[in-house]
Amino acid sequence: MLDTHCHLNDEQFDKDVDRVVNNFLHAGVDKAICVAWDIPSNEKAREIARKYDCVYYTVGVHPDNVADYDEQKLETLIKDAQKDERNKLVAVGEIGLDYYRIKDNKERQKKVFISQIELAFKFHLPIIIHCREAYGDTLEILKRYAPFKFGAVMHCYSGSLEYANELLKLGVKLSFTGVVTYKNANNVKEVAKSIPLDSFFLETDCPYLAPVPHRGERNEPAFVMDTAKYVADLREMSLSDLISATDQNATKFFKF
Ligand code: NI
Repeated sequence: MLDTHCHLNDEQFDKDVDRVVNNFLHAGVDKAICVAWDIPSNEKAREIARKYDCVYYTVGVHPDNVADYDEQKLETLIKDAQKDERNKLVAVGEIGLDYYRIKDNKERQKKVFISQIELAFKFHLPIIIHCREAYGDTLEILKRYAPFKFGAVMHCYSGSLEYANELLKLGVKLSFTGVVTYKNANNVKEVAKSIPLDSFFLETDCPYLAPVPHRGERNEPAFVMDTAKYVADLREMSLSDLISATDQNATKFFKF
């Protein structure tokens, strides 16, 4: 089982990252992808991936942090990864648009998103997309770049089934967090239940969004199992079949 999106580089894990990694290995999660959101978190993700065999990482600048985005710097980080004895950089992310927190820099956000999509293409890497309250503009940009030869995934999918189908048509995969287990998330449940088995995978987005029965706690990669159980029940299939399908999807996508 894989956790395809976690933030072990978040300061909430500074004190016990060893224990958190052991926990997920014992829970049957054999790989986790540590996702970056700004330059310091990029560097920290690489350090963690160097320390733990089972941790991979991404480089990217989240739309909340576009103010000091520097394309040159990001390109250097990708080239540095290629010099590593074992290159564990698996994607560019998380990148995208977020009009929830900051609404007055939409043009800047779009420019930075596009710049990072083009960087990913240049280095033949998949992209991990973050989208919040920016569905129209995100789709418009994705349409320009589809089909995604090296892969694209909309992380923490929480939109409608209709929007999901638009993304799938562009060849974009979806990824579900613990949000799918929340009582009021009927939209997400409907999507997770009905999209093709080869079109999605699972993640925690920890330390945020812990699935039921851990809701409200600090989330960690081990809890991706709770989301897997929930989605298996939704789709009326066995846990092992669900895990084997989503693992296969993620393994192909991130080229493990
Ligand atoms: Ni995230």
